[in-house]
Amino acid sequence: MEFSGRFYAGGKEDLLQQIKAELSDFRYRHILGVGQTCFELAQKYGVDAEQAMIAGFVHDYAKEKSDAQFIEKIHAKNLPLDLLNWGNFIWHGVVGAEFIKDELHITDEAILNAVRRHTVGAPFMTVLDKIVYVSDYVEPNRDFPDVEMARVLAYSDLEQAVIFETKHTLQYLMSTNAKIYPDAILTYNAYVAKK
Ligand SMILES: [Fe+2]
Ligand SMILES: [Fe+2]
Repeated sequence: MEFSGRFYAGGKEDLLQQIKAELSDFRYRHILGVGQTCFELAQKYGVDAEQAMIAGFVHDYAKEKSDAQFIEKIHAKNLPLDLLNWGNFIWHGVVGAEFIKDELHITDEAILNAVRRHTVGAPFMTVLDKIVYVSDYVEPNRDFPDVEMARVLAYSDLEQAVIFETKHTLQYLMSTNAKIYPDAILTYNAYVAKK
C-alpha cells in the first residue's frame, strides 16, 4: 500500500528508513509487524487503513532514545512533571508522540493519541487507539502463552481483545511487583471491571 501524503509527507519507504535508523533490528521487525496488523485490523473494523498502518509503524519510534532525551523533552514541551517519576516504559508513548511530531513531522492527533495510549491504554479509546494497543500485543513476532487466544480475539472482537490484554498485562505487572501507572488502572476500570 502506498501512502497518500495525508498523514506523512514522504513515501512509505522514506518513513520506514527514518524509523529503522532509530531502532535495533529486533524492534524494527516488531514495528513492521505492528504496522501490518494495524492495517489488517483497520480494514476489519472500518477505520482508515493508512492512518492505522502509520500509527503502527511509529508507535515505538522513541523507544530507544535515552532517558536524558526524554527528560529534556518533558521540560521542553511542558509536559506534566509527574512523568519524571516514571521511566522508558511510560515515556516512549506519552513523550514519544512529541518526538514523532518534531522529528517525523506527523501532526495527525488521532495517530499521536494512539501512540500516547498504546502502552497502558486509556479510559476512553477510539477504535484506532484500540487497534494500535491490540496490534502491539498480537503482531506476528509476539510469542507468549495465550498469544493465540489474544490473536483470535483481535480479529473477531476488538473490545474483548482490549479486555484480555489489559487484564493479562496488569496481572503480569502485579506478579512482578512492578509499579502500576495510574492510567493503566483507569483502563482496567473502564474495560475490565464489572460495570
Ligand atoms: Fe511500546
Ligand atoms: Fe510496541
